[in-house]
Amino acid sequence: MKAVFGLAIIVDGTLVFNARDPVVLEEKAVAAAELLRQGKLVAFPTETVYGLGASVRDERAVSRIFEVKGRPVDNPLIVHLSDISELPGLARNIPAEAWTLARRFWPGPLTLVLEKKPWVPGVVTGGLDSVAVRVPDHPVALALLRAAELPVAAPSANISGRPSPTTADHVLADLAGRISAVLDGGPCDIGVESTVLDVRGGCLRILRPGSITPQEIAGLLQRKCEIVELSADKNPPSPGLKYRHYAPRAPLYLFLGEPGKVTVKMQEELETWLSRGKKAGLLVTLESAKAFSGYRNVELIVPGSRDDPAAMAARLYAALREFDARRVDVILAEGCSPKGAGLALLNRLQKAAGENIVQVE
Ligand code: TXA
Ligand code: MG
Repeated sequence: MKAVFGLAIIVDGTLVFNARDPVVLEEKAVAAAELLRQGKLVAFPTETVYGLGASVRDERAVSRIFEVKGRPVDNPLIVHLSDISELPGLARNIPAEAWTLARRFWPGPLTLVLEKKPWVPGVVTGGLDSVAVRVPDHPVALALLRAAELPVAAPSANISGRPSPTTADHVLADLAGRISAVLDGGPCDIGVESTVLDVRGGCLRILRPGSITPQEIAGLLQRKCEIVELSADKNPPSPGLKYRHYAPRAPLYLFLGEPGKVTVKMQEELETWLSRGKKAGLLVTLESAKAFSGYRNVELIVPGSRDDPAAMAARLYAALREFDARRVDVILAEGCSPKGAGLALLNRLQKAAGENIVQVE
C-alpha cells in the first residue's frame, strides 16, 4: 500500500491518481487496476463522463456501486471492455449489425444492448436478460481496463440524480471518502453520456441519445433507426429513463421555441424571479447572451454558440454544478434544436428540467 500512496494524494480517504501525464499513466493504471481486482470501487475518465467502476465478476463490489450512488437497484450498469474482441465473453446471439456498429464506433461513445451470457450477474443488469456494453475512447480508461484484465461495470460517477461528473473534482465533490480511488485524466471531451442502442432481435432503437446520432447509425446500416419516446412511462425499455436525472439543486426551467420569442419570454420570467428577490442562473447561447447582460443578481453562463451544440453539451454538466456553487435559487435555460449533437443536449436539459418545460408559442 505504501507504493500506492506514493503514486497518489488522498482526499477524505479517497486516493487521487493524477493520470494526465502519459509518461506516468501506466504505473497509475496498474495500481488502480489492482484495487479493482481487490473488489474496490475506482472512478475513471472516459471520453463522455467519469465512470465509477467495479469488477463485473465481483457481485459485492457491484452492489457497493448502487449503495454509494444511492442508485435504484433496477437501473442496470454499462459494462466497459478494453477491446471489441472481448464482446463474445459477455453477450450471445450478437447480430451482424452489432458487429458492424462496434467495428465502426468502438472505441467510442456507443453502448450496445445485447442478450447477456448467463454468467453475467443480475446485479449488473438490473435483473434483465440483456447487457449494455461499450469500449470507451479514452487513454486512461483503456489503460485501466487493460491492466485490470476484467470487464468493468461503470455508471456515471455521481450521486444518483445529480449532474454527471466531467472532471475528477466533480467525482470527489459527490463521492470522496466513499470510493477507493479516482484516476484524474482531466476534463472529458464529449461531456454527455454515450448513445444507448438496443440491437437485439433485429431491432434498432436508441434508448438514450448521445453524441453518436441516429443519422450516423442509420447511415451506416442503411435502415431507419428508431428513437424511443423519452416519456416517464411505467415500464420503459431502459430502466434509467424513468428517473429524473442530471438535476442541479435549484429548479431548472427550460424554454423551447423560436429563439427570438424564447429570449423575450425568458426576460419576462427572469424579471419576475428578480422582483421576488431571488438570485437567478441563466444558461443561454452566445447569440442570446447580449439580451441578458444588464441584470443584477444574475449568474450568466454561456456554454457556446447555437451552431455548435456539441461544444454546449461538453460544458452542460459543469455549468449546472457551477450554478449550485454560486447558490442560485432558480435556473432559466435556453433550449436548442434537436439536430445532430443537439438531440443529446436537449434530452439532458429536458431531464434536468423535469416538468418545468416552457413551450414558447
Ligand atoms: O457514457 C456513458 O455511457 C457513461 C460512461 C461512464 O461510460 N456511463 C453511463 O452510465 O452513463 P449510467 O449508468 O449513468 O447510464 C447507463 C444507462 C442507463 O440509462 C441504463 O438504464 C441503461 O444505460 N442501461 C444499462 N443497461 C441496460 C440494459 N441492459 N437495457 C437497457 N438499458 C440499459
Ligand atoms: Mg448516470
